[in-house]
Amino acid sequence: MPELFDNHNRRIDYLRVSITDKCNLRCIYCMPKEGLSDFKKHRDILTYEEIELFVSHAIKQGISKVRLTGGEPLVRRDVVDLIRSLSGIPELHDMSLTTNGVLLADFAEELYKAGLERINVSIDSLNSEKFKQITRVGDLNIVKKGIQKALDVGFKPLKINAVILKGINDGLSDLKDFAKLTFDYPLHVRFIEYMPFSKEVGFKAGLTCSEIAEKLKTFGSLNKVDSPRGSGPARYMKFKGALGTVGFISPMSNHFCPECNRLRLTADGKLKTCLFSNDEIDIIGPMRNNHPEEAVKEVLSRALKEKPKDHSSALKKDFVRTMSQIGG
Ligand code: 5AD
Ligand code: SF4
Repeated sequence: MPELFDNHNRRIDYLRVSITDKCNLRCIYCMPKEGLSDFKKHRDILTYEEIELFVSHAIKQGISKVRLTGGEPLVRRDVVDLIRSLSGIPELHDMSLTTNGVLLADFAEELYKAGLERINVSIDSLNSEKFKQITRVGDLNIVKKGIQKALDVGFKPLKINAVILKGINDGLSDLKDFAKLTFDYPLHVRFIEYMPFSKEVGFKAGLTCSEIAEKLKTFGSLNKVDSPRGSGPARYMKFKGALGTVGFISPMSNHFCPECNRLRLTADGKLKTCLFSNDEIDIIGPMRNNHPEEAVKEVLSRALKEKPKDHSSALKKDFVRTMSQIGG
C-alpha cells in the first residue's frame, strides 16, 4: 500500500470531502438566520464524477479513509449514488458521513445498503425547545427518529457530536440528557469545543472539554476507555454501567496538530491542509482545464509540502470560510 507523508513526517491517510455548502438547518453558531448570502452555484461545485475521480486517485496515493460532510451532505441530490460508487473502490477501508440527522430516518437504510459504514450525527441539545433555539428551524423528534433508524439498520459505532455553548446548552440538565443517552443506548456522545470561525454569525463562547468533563462527573464516575473505530483526536470515557461512551474533542484547549492525518476537500473544489488556515489549493480549475489525474497528483503533492506544522498562528486571523463552507 502506498503511503503519504507531509513535510512534518505525519502520515496523511484521511480525506474529508464536503459535497455541499448548503444545509437544512441554521445553527446559531454556524450560519446567519437567512442562510449564507453566497451559497455556491451548481456549476461551481465539484460534480460527483469529479469527486469520485479525486477520491480514487487520492486512494491510489495513500488515502484510506474518507468522510463525507457538508453543509449537510444528505441535502445533495442522489447522494446515495455517490456513496455506492465510492464504496466500490476496493482500497477504501473506511467510509463515513457526518449529518445533522434531519433526513436520516429517510436515508439510513439506503445509505447502509449502499455500503456506508459509519455515521456521526450532530445534535447539540436533547431538549426540543433548546434544539429549536440552536438550530433555528430543527425538529428534535425527527432527528431522534433518524438516530433510532440508524441504530436499527446496523450503523456501528454510531457517534453523536455536540457543541456546548456558554449560557445556551451548558446547564447540568443539558449535560445530564447527554449522559443519560449513553446509559440508554450504545451511542458515543462526543463533545466538540466550539471554534469561533465566523464573525458574521456573532461569537458565542463555548465550554472547554475539561469544563464539560467536570460537569459530567456530577452524574457518576467516568473511566477512560479505548476509542471506538475511526476516532481521530477524540478521547473517550465511560460511566459505569453505561452502554455507550462520552468523548472529548478539544481543538481549542489542546491542539492535536502533531497527530493530524487529514486533508479537506471543499464542495467548491479547494484542498485545505488545515482547518484553521485560510490557505487553500484550487483543484476544480486544474481538474477542468488540464489532465484531471495529473491535476490531482500535483495538488496532493503540493498539499503535503504546504500542510502547516500547527495552527497556532492561523487562529489569530479572521476566517474566510465558515464551518459549513469548509466541511465540518
Ligand atoms: N465549532 C465547533 N464545531 C462546529 N461545528 C460546526 N461549526 C462549528 C464550530 N464553529 C460542528 C457541527 C457538527 C460538526 C460537523 O461540526 O456541530 O457537529
Ligand atoms: Fe447545518 Fe451543521 Fe451548520 Fe448546523 S452546524 S447549520 S447542521 S452545517
